[in-house]
Amino acid sequence: MMEKKFGIIGKPISHSLSPALHNLWFKKYNIFANYSLIEIEPQEIEGIIKKIRNGELQGINVTVPYKQAVIPFLDLIIDDAKETLSVNTISLNKEGKIVGNNTDVYGFEQSFVNKLSNQNLEKNRVLVLGAGGVTPSIIYALKKKKINEIFISNRTLKKAEEIKKKFSFTQIIEWKNIETKIQDMDIIINATSLGLKNGSDFKLEFKNINSNLIYYDIIYNPNETTMIKKFKKRNIQTFSGLEMFIYQAQKSFSLWNKINPEVNEEIKQIVATKLK
Ligand code: ATR
Repeated sequence: MMEKKFGIIGKPISHSLSPALHNLWFKKYNIFANYSLIEIEPQEIEGIIKKIRNGELQGINVTVPYKQAVIPFLDLIIDDAKETLSVNTISLNKEGKIVGNNTDVYGFEQSFVNKLSNQNLEKNRVLVLGAGGVTPSIIYALKKKKINEIFISNRTLKKAEEIKKKFSFTQIIEWKNIETKIQDMDIIINATSLGLKNGSDFKLEFKNINSNLIYYDIIYNPNETTMIKKFKKRNIQTFSGLEMFIYQAQKSFSLWNKINPEVNEEIKQIVATKLK
């Protein structure tokens, strides 16, 4: 039997834990396959997609900065990818078409939104920080839960305005005004790269927060960002991006292999340990 080949494209990519997780599941479910890191330049996207078409690759994940950039090279985008115009999972369907899907929405729902469902969720005011590749998935998942007051703030205003073009129900808060608007928020979601290991961090103090605030950090490396640590000290409920990472991988795996791999404490522990 031929070994199936999968991978993740992006740049930079060396810190991705996707290979570790997918390869662990391949082993667990006795699938003869390998998942690797594929660091590419934008001009190489087309060639990679060809490899899916000709069977050299069975599927790929897509990460920063290519979640939108891959779309012109695909035959169709479906489901949550269509709603968000953000693709993180690609495969060839039975009709020989290259299909783009999105599993970040599911990852965010499973790791966060679905856990909050009995807290009068639709009345919450949510501030999404950042307007990069993952923001459309977050906004779409929040909207599906009937949350109507969704605010976005981004250092570069123009990118927040781009998001608003697609999701007209969102409201923009200028980055310099965050500190003054923060007291009205029930949930803050960090969808920027601030807090990433060896990267820059927030200069904001988030002084005037509401004591019932919930803070979600999309970042999973480190598992506890500086912001999470600071909020925990203030008795604020926090969530790390680790589970979102695991659940988006679960759905990608399931789309490719028709097996839904189990997400349990052991898996979470293994992934968390690899971050150290
Ligand atoms: P991309 O922007 O290529 O999609 P991303 O990692 O998905 O990359 O998004 C990075 C996000 O983090 C962006 O919202 C970015 O803000 P800009 O649009 O202004 O670049 C945000 N970000 C990164 N570094 C930041 C910093 N030092 N301060 C504030 N926001 C920052």
